[in-house]
Amino acid sequence: MDSLQKYYPWFGFLGLVIGVLIIVGYFKDEFREWKQWQHEYIEQEISRATTPELKELAQTIPLEIRQIVLPESRRVDRCTTCHIAVEDPGYAGYKQPLAYHPNHDQHPFEKFGCTICHLGQGRATDRDAAHGRVKHWEQPMLPKNYIEASCAKCHTATDIPGAPMLARGRELFEEQGCIGCHKLDGFGSSIGPELDKIGAKRSPQWLAQHFKIPREVVPGSGMPPVKLKELDIEALTLFLLGQTGEPLSEYFLSMKILPAPEVGQRIFVQRGCLGCHSIGGTGGKVGPALDGVTKRRSTDWIVQHFREPAAVSPGTVMPRYDFTESEIRALTAFLVSLSETDVIGFLKVLQPATPEERGKSVYRKYGCAGCHGPTGKGGVPNPNAKTNQQVPPLMAEGDMADIFIESYITEGVQEIAKMNSNGPQPPLYMPAWEGKISEGELADLVSYLHTLASE
Ligand code: HEC
Ligand code: HEC
Ligand code: HEC
Ligand code: HEC
Ligand code: HEC
Ligand code: HEC
Repeated sequence: MDSLQKYYPWFGFLGLVIGVLIIVGYFKDEFREWKQWQHEYIEQEISRATTPELKELAQTIPLEIRQIVLPESRRVDRCTTCHIAVEDPGYAGYKQPLAYHPNHDQHPFEKFGCTICHLGQGRATDRDAAHGRVKHWEQPMLPKNYIEASCAKCHTATDIPGAPMLARGRELFEEQGCIGCHKLDGFGSSIGPELDKIGAKRSPQWLAQHFKIPREVVPGSGMPPVKLKELDIEALTLFLLGQTGEPLSEYFLSMKILPAPEVGQRIFVQRGCLGCHSIGGTGGKVGPALDGVTKRRSTDWIVQHFREPAAVSPGTVMPRYDFTESEIRALTAFLVSLSETDVIGFLKVLQPATPEERGKSVYRKYGCAGCHGPTGKGGVPNPNAKTNQQVPPLMAEGDMADIFIESYITEGVQEIAKMNSNGPQPPLYMPAWEGKISEGELADLVSYLHTLASE
């Protein structure tokens, strides 16, 4: 009994400590940042209420964690716990996190959540954790100037009206000949690593810095510095950030092709509709001329006809294509636009290109620019190479016989002799394009190289 009594003061003290902890815990919980924002939101709602009924309703808004659950992409996004007014246009221009979200009708939040575009940590309810700006979270939220990168996860990069930087990035990727050394979507060379998942692997800062001076980021890198203006570096970075290789459900990818007239025009040319139809007097005569088709047919009819030509035109010879719904909408948008846009401009696109013009796009397609420069002017260093410390320019090809140039391209030069035999192997060699490039492409490419010499 005595022995127990001497512990009494300790029991008392312990009780006090627990009491304090409970009180601290209560206040900490009460002052969680998200609760503050919800309090402020509710106050706003009450002051905005125009009738007593609405006021009463506003007073009953519960303080609670809010979330969007997306089982298919295994996401739970609680961002709306703080960003509570994203769907209320009344909060346009209000301070964050209580502001309305612009342009969201195209991507309903209940189907998309937030992190699929913004990254960050969906489940977190603390600001820094949610924004992913904490250790051990690999996907910090994309800074605003890089947000367009996410559009490329689901849409074809060049076709998105709301993402001009992304389109620019894609264009630069082709112009600079990155494909000459890298594979993307299974196409390209293997001198540098594959880029399919690079967006999930590297930060915007890493990518931009690596473009400017690869060796500063990866010692001994064989990648030549990318000599572009700051804004173009940003565009290129943005394009690569969108290459995440993330597996997404069919619904998300259903709009790979956005249904715009320009996209429809491209499909129209690529799929050879002109073989049977004419526009502005150019093209085949198997099917009717398509200039004024929307005066004869409703858009619904045209859409039905693409889905199943024979269903609306029994016995037709028009083939049934395996178009997706968004491709069908794109083609229809193009046909609708024919009655209002200039057919002349369109015909210019259709004019058959000269072999030289075609060769130029072959040069682009295979990324020759990555090693020989965008216009064949050379200047790309190849350290420790014996004869060419820079990859040779392609201006001397004018004097070379076609067959010689052709065999250079098809066979390549894999063994580049070293200047210092104890030094490392020169990083760049001429890949063999045999089996990758078609006969026609090769002939066009050679025609293009001849024009470089004469300039
Ligand atoms: C605890 C509350 C809270 C949560 C949870 C939260 N945010 Fe925020 N967010 C804020 C506040 C406050 C601001 C404005 C101040 C700032 O920029 O930090 C903000 C700003 C932003 C901005 C604009 C500023 C910037 O840094 O680019 C974006 C975008 C954003 N949040 C997205 C998200 C996303 C996506 C999530 C969910 C993954 C999320 N937020 C979860 C509180 C929150
Ligand atoms: C389809 C992609 C997409 C989804 C989904 C999306 N956003 Fe955005 N968000 C954007 C884009 C793009 C912008 C830039 C808008 C602009 O400036 O026109 C933006 C802007 C914002 C901003 C303002 C940033 C600033 O600095 O002004 C906040 C905050 C934000 N989003 C939060 C969210 C939250 C929270 C969700 C989920 C409820 C969400 N977003 C879902 C694409 C998306
Ligand atoms: C996770 C995939 C995904 C991401 C990321 C995404 N989109 Fe979309 N987008 C879709 C889907 C799916 C639709 C069709 C939605 C529907 O109708 O239910 C769509 C619709 C659109 C449309 C309307 C197309 C039409 O004519 O109906 C536009 C424009 C668009 N997205 C642009 C963007 C831009 C800009 C971004 C980047 C800020 C972006 N998208 C990011 C999947 C995505
Ligand atoms: C093999 C020849 C052939 C090809 C290729 C072809 N069509 Fe047709 N198309 C026809 C014929 C024949 C008709 C008229 C019978 C009918 O309505 O199906 C027709 C009808 C049409 C009509 C309705 C015209 C009207 O005034 O009623 C449209 C629109 C159309 N085609 C678009 C296209 C598009 C776009 C493509 C390319 C994706 C294409 N066609 C490819 C043969 C072809
Ligand atoms: C990965 C870098 C790389 C790529 C991509 C590349 N080349 Fe080369 N190319 C070289 C190197 C290195 C040489 C020099 C080989 C040598 O030392 O003999 C070379 C040599 C050549 C030569 C001979 C030049 C001369 O005057 O000796 C031609 C022609 C040529 N390349 C054309 C092309 C074409 C066309 C493409 C695109 C289809 C292409 N190259 C893509 C690296 C490359
Ligand atoms: C002449 C060949 C060559 C060209 C052209 C080239 N690269 Fe590289 N790249 C490499 C090599 C080799 C590496 C590996 C060493 C390194 O990481 O720096 C590399 C690395 C990279 C990495 C880092 C990959 C990773 O997994 O860490 C990225 C991103 C990249 N390149 C993007 C590009 C882009 C974009 C372009 C076009 C502007 C380009 N490269 C042009 C050779 C090239």
